[in-house]
Amino acid sequence: MERTFLMIKPDGVRRGLVGEIVARFERKGLKLIALDLVHASRETVEAHYGVHREKPFFAGVVGFILSGPVVTTVWEGDEVIAISRKLMGATKPTEANPGTIRGDYSNSVEQNLIHGSDSVENAASEIALWYPNLV
Ligand code: RTP
Ligand code: MG
Repeated sequence: MERTFLMIKPDGVRRGLVGEIVARFERKGLKLIALDLVHASRETVEAHYGVHREKPFFAGVVGFILSGPVVTTVWEGDEVIAISRKLMGATKPTEANPGTIRGDYSNSVEQNLIHGSDSVENAASEIALWYPNLV
């Protein structure tokens, strides 16, 4: 059984899309095992996006995630990582298909509503970062 870390970004919380986004994963049959509204620390967000530290958008995305509360979640299910990435939609607004969360509700590469782990290894390290006590 696989696990993934999904985070509704500050734009999703500000726009009142938390219920809509969580409902899509629930309806797909994925099992919710943790959910919190949190004001993340800079230290946590910089570690979360650590793989992008050298990218030109690093400071921007960290500042954006710190701009308001986020909703952190952990989900469980067979192939939950690939399934949730599919429901999220592509990073670029021109490539995010209608019917996906980003395709339906975002036109921005940065303010794209949701983060989802992209591999088993990254899911494990992100869950350990945000939920150190989750067994
Ligand atoms: P995420 O990590 O947030 O789930 O998104 P992703 O895998 O679809 O995209 P990734 O390439 O990992 O980029 C991480 C986040 O950085 C912001 N970004 N901004 N301005 C830009 O060109 C740019 N590129 C990426 C986005 O918020 C993206 O989700
Ligand atoms: Mg990513």
